[in-house]
Amino acid sequence: MPDTRTISAYEDDMNDAVREAAALLASGEIVAVPTETVYGLAADAFNPEAVAKVFAAKERPDFDPLIVHIAAYRELAEVAEMPEELESVVKSLAGAFWPGPLTILLPKSAKVPDLVTSGLPTVAVRQSANVIFRAIGRALGRPIAAPSANRFGRISPTSASAVEKELGGRIPLIVDGGACNQGIESTIISIELGETRPLIRVLRAGPVTKEELQKFGKVVIEKRKADAPDAPGQLAHHYAPETPLLMFDKPSDFKPEPDKRYGLISYRGDEKAGYLHLHEWELVEELSPGSGKLQEAAIRLFYVMRMMDEEGLDAIVVEPVSEVGLGVAIMDRLRKASVKGG
Ligand code: TXA
Ligand code: MG
Repeated sequence: MPDTRTISAYEDDMNDAVREAAALLASGEIVAVPTETVYGLAADAFNPEAVAKVFAAKERPDFDPLIVHIAAYRELAEVAEMPEELESVVKSLAGAFWPGPLTILLPKSAKVPDLVTSGLPTVAVRQSANVIFRAIGRALGRPIAAPSANRFGRISPTSASAVEKELGGRIPLIVDGGACNQGIESTIISIELGETRPLIRVLRAGPVTKEELQKFGKVVIEKRKADAPDAPGQLAHHYAPETPLLMFDKPSDFKPEPDKRYGLISYRGDEKAGYLHLHEWELVEELSPGSGKLQEAAIRLFYVMRMMDEEGLDAIVVEPVSEVGLGVAIMDRLRKASVKGG
């Protein structure tokens, strides 16, 4: 593999970058591209050889299926067989959240290679809102299979430089579209016909919250199955930094060992949570220094985790956030990343 090139897709560079990325994808290559959630490692979803390269570059086990990204709603019919009884709720959800960070599981069409769905009868579909990603999809004229552009089990990248650290030397091209404006991966749902209203199961919490989905049906947040770590989409330990990440039920549960260097990921960097003055931290980083808002915390979460991971600490302690709205998705990522995850 030659060196990985990073090209800018800012302003005047965008058209050239889109053309180059689409041409590589059309030739069966893989390219890292920005989305509004995290960077994705893209391949032509209908080309199994290209999809195989995605699994290889990520060292991803082939039982963990990929999300297929469509460029327009009409492409949905190419990748999924829409059950008649779900058509209206899917249409409403797509109308409300697409393009955007919502991924919907539907029965797959025969055109989608089994490798993409790991042999499952369903396909995970979304339409990204990122303008660069959308332009690449339109130029390619085919749906794009893209998992997050990190090595398997590691933190999703939210910048081109984070992708370079994850996959440099393994892929030919990274399209730099700046920092992702959501910062955590899409919400993944499945839908069933309920007794009175559709039943929406949240398989992965994300930027589209339970509260927002409740307008469209009864929403259940699926608990991850720690006893079934092989089930696709249900891997318990994930998104992890190399430095152990510790999360406690209460501050007093933290029992520092002498001579060990600890860092703190604090929500706002204030005393309220009870961690700031608990210990002489080597380093404190705030998730939401500006506004104390979950939105800002989500955008910064993986960036802060990566930055702390590079400090050579013995462990990173993270303050839990309240599990409302986006806080559900943030706590999901923190539990999956932490060694004491409950
Ligand atoms: O925001 C996102 O969703 C990003 C951007 C690039 O679109 N993508 C992403 O992909 O996070 P990935 O592969 O890192 O996570 C997709 C998750 C995996 O946990 C996978 O197991 C699950 O979706 N998944 C995919 N297809 C599935 C299926 N048919 N049934 C159940 N889970 C599925
Ligand atoms: Mg991922």
